[in-house]
Amino acid sequence: MTAPPGQLLEALLGAHEIQVRVQELGQEISRDYQGQELTCVGILKGSLVFLADLIRAISIPVTVDFLAITPYAPRQGRQHAVRLLKDLDDPVTGRHLLIVEDIVDTGLTLGFLVRTLAARGPASVKICTLLDRPPQRIIPLPISYHGFEIAGDFVVGYGMDYRQYYRNLPGIYRLKPEEASP
Ligand code: IMP
Repeated sequence: MTAPPGQLLEALLGAHEIQVRVQELGQEISRDYQGQELTCVGILKGSLVFLADLIRAISIPVTVDFLAITPYAPRQGRQHAVRLLKDLDDPVTGRHLLIVEDIVDTGLTLGFLVRTLAARGPASVKICTLLDRPPQRIIPLPISYHGFEIAGDFVVGYGMDYRQYYRNLPGIYRLKPEEASP
């Protein structure tokens, strides 16, 4: 068996720390949307683990749908054009939407998705991201819920990948992409 690409560095966030924060987010979301129905829109594939934990921490009626966009290419991300690869299964007119994302970096991905979904006449569109890198932001975005702020390093685990690997790690780790290796 070959080793996955890149060099895994130290843990940034442990599984327990993530779980505690996800529970808090779920409780906050449940309070804010009390008496309403919510649709969580997961962005494939990176948000899949976060979404699975988050919806189980939400106590109000919630439905789930998915969008897939063009994959992120590390180190080229600032120029990447975002494109929809898979659309939602159901109409969202009149529904409260919560976009669930793994990490917001430049904001290009979510800027595009918020515009796309807002044009469909939902009752509201908000953003919940596990990780936020505010210094990298190009597109200003109102982030309603975020788990943790992190610095510039590339990270993997808890659903986030490098070349499709590492999504299964229960914690979040810094990773040195192989292009950057000497
Ligand atoms: P943005 O469009 O620059 O905000 O990038 C957001 C998307 O890029 C996320 O949905 C992730 O899929 C991906 N991404 C950004 N930073 C990382 C990272 O450190 N690790 C893994 N994926 C990342």
